[in-house]
Amino acid sequence: MCKSSVHAFLQALPKCEQHIHLEGALHPKVLFSLAQRNNIALPKDDPAFGSPEALLARYQRFTSLDDFLHYYYLGMSVLINAADFESLAFDYFEHAQRDGVQHAEVFFDPQAHTSRGIDLSVVLQGFNAARDRAHRELGISTELIACFLRHLPPADCLASFEHDQLQASFMGGQIAGIGLDSSEKDFPPSLFEELFHRAGKLGLKRTAHAGEEAPADFIRDSLDLLGTTRIDHGRRLPEDPALMQRIVEQKTLLTLCPISNVVLRGVEHVSQLPIRQFIDAGVRFSINSDDPAYFGGYILDNYCAVQEAFGLSTKDWDWICRGAIEGSWCRQERKDELLRALDAVMAEWEGKSLVTSNGFTNGVTNGVTNGVNGH
Ligand code: ADE
Ligand code: ZN
Repeated sequence: MCKSSVHAFLQALPKCEQHIHLEGALHPKVLFSLAQRNNIALPKDDPAFGSPEALLARYQRFTSLDDFLHYYYLGMSVLINAADFESLAFDYFEHAQRDGVQHAEVFFDPQAHTSRGIDLSVVLQGFNAARDRAHRELGISTELIACFLRHLPPADCLASFEHDQLQASFMGGQIAGIGLDSSEKDFPPSLFEELFHRAGKLGLKRTAHAGEEAPADFIRDSLDLLGTTRIDHGRRLPEDPALMQRIVEQKTLLTLCPISNVVLRGVEHVSQLPIRQFIDAGVRFSINSDDPAYFGGYILDNYCAVQEAFGLSTKDWDWICRGAIEGSWCRQERKDELLRALDAVMAEWEGKSLVTSNGFTNGVTNGVTNGVNGH
């Protein structure tokens, strides 16, 4: 837990969250109650599904991205009705608001639902209802991003992209863009050129997970072959200094997920992420939760973990939050509102040091100990 005065500053910062999988906000207790209500049998041969507590304990022992994804896809099998999708997303928006999120660009995985026989209209009805409520009741603006699953054959991804319901949502502006997620190493960006080309022709925004587990080449190929204007994760960017320079010049936003990288064993500790290096080099990045119910931290937990690892200044945070706002996919007027909110917080904290007399690097050592139940 971070020191209270600093915590107040981090909480107050107007945040944009750009890397959150709505299906990754499904907590074990909710998972179990939906399984019962919807009559879904959970795996009997895995003791982790013995109780919500056992499942939560298993989440603290993920060994890799693929180990996590196994539970992530099993977990979402309990989502059946529009109301399930709505309450899942609205729970996330409520938590995000408490953490100071004012704008959220949220991912969902259409194929993970249609492949289990759930009509896309059910998924979209639920998520869009939650987004309307988030706007009306919480003042959070949102964008929805449809992610394609790279472990599935590219032809499946293309067929899913052409689905009537998705196309209608692209045309109607309810879905702002597409992303690429799931298992990374064996599924390079080159497999998805046609999909991203079609999305580009429709004028959709494009992003892709890259450099989470796989090397920096995946980041370069996402930019060059897929036309992405954003990179999800990108933690391995420093392996290619020329590419890093290009990303600085293009102002490409990386959506970093520090606690996720620790829990999925990309790094042992948040302090091993190149966050200081990115700030010093002028790389734009935002800080995000990825799958908060699985990794034990929402966005503010991630801000706190970064602060505790790097002892950043208010100026550093101004840079991070400004980059997140400028790299958002919302209208310029909304960005201007968010920038004014950031200026107001910075004016209030001007001249104050974030390092307390006790120092600020004690306490949390990694995402796992940051508490799977949140703060
Ligand atoms: N789907 C949900 N979370 C993911 C992650 N961290 N990486 C890739 N795909 C994901
Ligand atoms: Zn992700």
